[in-house]
Amino acid sequence: MKIGVYSERPDERAFFDHAAQACGVELVMCGAVPDLSNCRAAEGCRALSIITTPVPAPLLDAFYAAGVRYISTRTVGYDHIDVAHARKIGMHIGNVSYSPDSVADYTVMMILIAVRKLKAIVTRAQGQDFSLGGVRGRELRDLTVGVIGTGRIGTCVVRRLAGFGCRILACDLRENDAVRQAAEYVPPDELYRRSDVITLHMPATEDNYHMIGRESLGKMKKEVCIVNTARGSLIDTQALIEALEDGRVGAAALDVVENEAGLYYNDLKCVPLKNRELAVLRSFPNTFVTPHTAFYTEHAVRDMVEYSVRSCASFCRGEDNPWLVF
Ligand code: COI
Repeated sequence: MKIGVYSERPDERAFFDHAAQACGVELVMCGAVPDLSNCRAAEGCRALSIITTPVPAPLLDAFYAAGVRYISTRTVGYDHIDVAHARKIGMHIGNVSYSPDSVADYTVMMILIAVRKLKAIVTRAQGQDFSLGGVRGRELRDLTVGVIGTGRIGTCVVRRLAGFGCRILACDLRENDAVRQAAEYVPPDELYRRSDVITLHMPATEDNYHMIGRESLGKMKKEVCIVNTARGSLIDTQALIEALEDGRVGAAALDVVENEAGLYYNDLKCVPLKNRELAVLRSFPNTFVTPHTAFYTEHAVRDMVEYSVRSCASFCRGEDNPWLVF
């Protein structure tokens, strides 16, 4: 059985070899980013493993014509795939549920970076400015942290935060008992009003597009810290920039930004950045930006590759597939 793989990175190689052997499948390395120029490389594969790059309707049609019936993305989020079109043409889609600890650890680091003003401390120290003015931080035990989204990652974040002695508020349509042990579930407006730090942990949907925007920012505490390791589209970037400029938001730590596709994971050091909002955010001393790397640990990469290959093999064999989205 042949499974097509797109966008394989060198650090995934050993995990792919191991997973192929364990599942008894043959992997066909189809190329870098999947697009209309290389989609025919998938001929003969009923299932494909891809990663974050966009899969619009014409590419789905081309894969379907090549005989592909299942696309597994080696990511939790699948908002880069035109799922409405996939459903329409009968293309099945799967994601993977890799170690949530990868993103949870990183989130705690981002929260600490924001509340301890680490970007300003490090940047200034690089120029031998070792003065203390303007870099006094706050201790987490004195703060209230609001966690929006308490799925697998949000729950891990709450567990970690419990060790810091801060007050934890949580918000989700579906509440869970593990979170209730350490956090108080409250409605969104109350979380906005009471939190010193707000961290986001939801998938991107049409309903939560720009949920952090002028209106919600207006309900937050002065100098709130905003942390986003989930999806850029959750935040109206322009509104966040304005709130950072006028001091209503005290700090931001962002692993994701709007319109990051095509930028992140590429070496663009000799190219003008084609995302002005990202350039503005990167220029602020109180805004720490990383290129969507919260997931990137050895454990998580192993999970991503292994689960995606297993998911493709299960689909092709008609077996139970826990990662099937539809
Ligand atoms: C996801 O798994 O949804 C992620 O955000 C990580 C991905 C960009 C590699």
